[in-house]
Amino acid sequence: MSLNIDRRSAAILGFGAYRPSTVVTNDDLAQRVDTDDDWITSRVGIKERRFADESETIVSMAVEASRDALANAGITAEDLDLVILATCTAVSQLPSAAPQVAHILGAKAPGAYDVNAACAGFCYALSQASNAIQVGDATTALVVGVEKLTDWVDPQDRSTCIIFADGAGAAIVGRSETQQIGPAVWGSAGDRPEAIIVRDRDSLMEMDGRAVFRWATTEVRPQIEKICTAAGITMRDIDVFVPHQANLRITTNMLRALDFREDVVVAKDIEYSGNTSAASIPLAIQRLVADGLARSGDKVLTIGFGAGLTYAGQIFVMP
Ligand code: UT7
Repeated sequence: MSLNIDRRSAAILGFGAYRPSTVVTNDDLAQRVDTDDDWITSRVGIKERRFADESETIVSMAVEASRDALANAGITAEDLDLVILATCTAVSQLPSAAPQVAHILGAKAPGAYDVNAACAGFCYALSQASNAIQVGDATTALVVGVEKLTDWVDPQDRSTCIIFADGAGAAIVGRSETQQIGPAVWGSAGDRPEAIIVRDRDSLMEMDGRAVFRWATTEVRPQIEKICTAAGITMRDIDVFVPHQANLRITTNMLRALDFREDVVVAKDIEYSGNTSAASIPLAIQRLVADGLARSGDKVLTIGFGAGLTYAGQIFVMP
């Protein structure tokens, strides 16, 4: 027996962002730990980042980014029947944050849950939203990537406190005439849990930066060609490349071995937002849109990678 199910098509309808108001420069951090602006800009590419204050929580930042995305998509929260929130910095294990975000937005009891795939979280969540719409689980989904990494990073650890930051980015995914979101290519390396780890609820983040750098530039990079193949296009068709904003040197290193067109637009939001894990990809896209560098109809390739180790990426058409 088979079920008689119509497959639908899904597209991203709009993006939104929330950047905390406190700007922290490299010079600010140099007053706290033994570092300097030269080291940070040359090794990581960050000029400044945003730190959330006490009033800026995972839920409040997610709500603000979602309101922005709803407005840009031209819909209201009442249209949402699915909310997926990607984060690895939730304050508590229970309850998840997505139902609260949905409630505050005024959504009518949508399906709501959190995803923890660290810096790859937004790409995992986007794929789940697209799939849910294609099979008919949902008609309109909100996908949020949100992090308050400053809660989990040791402010005295110069190898992490200069990188990680806070913020939220969101996307609305809805029905479309044709499929505008390609299949996700994802994977993991569970033999390396210690590369980025918070050991227990009383611990802060530890990171083997060199190991993550090596993995991203050797094992993750080849996935980019697979993402194109999965979507039935080539790297030359890509207009905008939005890798997880982990380190500008990782992006530059990846680009050397890829066959993008010379005029491909490359996201460099890390310069002003730092590494915001699951929020970094939607934040970077929002900045490209605001700067007029990503336009409607552009083919965008995203790839997230980080703790787990996990990665995921896909191609979508800009709304
Ligand atoms: O988003 C999640 C995934 N995470 C990542 O993608 C992170 C990937 N890794 C990286 O971005 C880089 O490995 C880091 C930025 C974390 C570190 O850069 P690196 O070039 O790999 O430096 P390193 O760890 O090899 O350290 C080189 C030196 C060390 O000093 P010694 O032992 O050679 O004397 C560090 O103690 O740099 C020192 N160092 C610093 N110096 C000044 C580490 N952090 C700093 C700092 N300022 N903030």
